[in-house]
Amino acid sequence: MFEKLDEIKVFRDPIHSYVKVEYKIIWDCINARELQRLRRIRQLGGAFVVYHTAEHSRFSHSLGVYEIVRQLVSENRMIHDALSEYDRLTVMLAGLLHDLGHGPYSHSFEAVTGVSHEEITRRIILEDSEIHRILAAASPGLAQDVASVIDKTHPNKVLSQLVSGQLDADRMDYLLRDAYNTGTTYGEFDIARILRTIQIHDDKFAVKESGIHSVEDYIMARYHMYWQVYYHPTARSHEAILHAMFRRYRELLENGHPSIFEPIDSFMTGKEISLEDHYRLDESCCNFGIGQFMNCDDPILADLAQRLVNRHLFEYRDVTSIEDVAYMQRKVEEAGLDPRYYLLQDTASQQPYVPYHKNKEDFIYVLCPDKEVRELSKCSVIVSALLNAEDKKDYKMYYPKELD
Ligand code: NI
Repeated sequence: MFEKLDEIKVFRDPIHSYVKVEYKIIWDCINARELQRLRRIRQLGGAFVVYHTAEHSRFSHSLGVYEIVRQLVSENRMIHDALSEYDRLTVMLAGLLHDLGHGPYSHSFEAVTGVSHEEITRRIILEDSEIHRILAAASPGLAQDVASVIDKTHPNKVLSQLVSGQLDADRMDYLLRDAYNTGTTYGEFDIARILRTIQIHDDKFAVKESGIHSVEDYIMARYHMYWQVYYHPTARSHEAILHAMFRRYRELLENGHPSIFEPIDSFMTGKEISLEDHYRLDESCCNFGIGQFMNCDDPILADLAQRLVNRHLFEYRDVTSIEDVAYMQRKVEEAGLDPRYYLLQDTASQQPYVPYHKNKEDFIYVLCPDKEVRELSKCSVIVSALLNAEDKKDYKMYYPKELD
């Protein structure tokens, strides 16, 4: 039913060796402008200020997620046989397209605009776009089916779990890819073994008991990558300044300041965002805007922008009590600075594996030799120890170095 290419196309990839494309519809989606745009969005936002080689794009990650799903649905016999060709294509497309809606430096930008990348992803797939036309031409309901796998409303829950669950293609790819591109080794685990030992059992995913050690490794990889890379305090300092800079710009616009960087104005003012607005705003465009801010007449905006460009990031300190913040606030004010922009706070906390998530489908299950299916922490000493440990929390404040 789905047309195949005359010959299989391959992309070389440092994580999966090759990303293989057999179906024409996958090839066409890769070549659509909305997916090509992801070449211009970094996967790790501002982490490159800490890990200088972390410049890989969301395009690479999207191909990687597609490849993991492809391997699961075509090389894992049990999963292959449990799904129709239509469902296999649907879930491969969902893997490829799941991050379409990301903007530049997505987390800090999203936090200011309130426009979620999930919502934009959905709109690109369902509204008028090159991707939508490719999907609609292949089969009338396909775009809706792909969108519902991504937002987890598809009736076949296994499809959504393949793309995003607790042991999913999205997370497996980003952990390995981010570890590789940051040069950290904590994120490594034996993905080939996990992919071989995953099975579908009563409509849920279960790993054969022989795969349990590679799953434990994956859980530990998650734990280490969060603390070493995703929650690195210097990267968070960069993110906090970006966030403050966008907030400042929004405030200027609200107070009648003329536009300084028009491509982000509609995001700042809560206007209806068109898909064209979204396509235009990639990281090169955003970085140009930061350059415009650097030269503007508002000293706060210009200073925050200059700090980002020249990597004059804020210093940080743990917050252990409310007095810590009050003390720093006085210092910031004494220096003549506005604490709304020069005293920033955030909290990072992480549970490496959440077994009692509100969504039972997100459990990781193990298929034991007695043919019973049990939740992972019941079978793994390591995972149960992690669960009983207290949640690790990290509450920090950020302020200009000169004040230290
Ligand atoms: Ni992703």
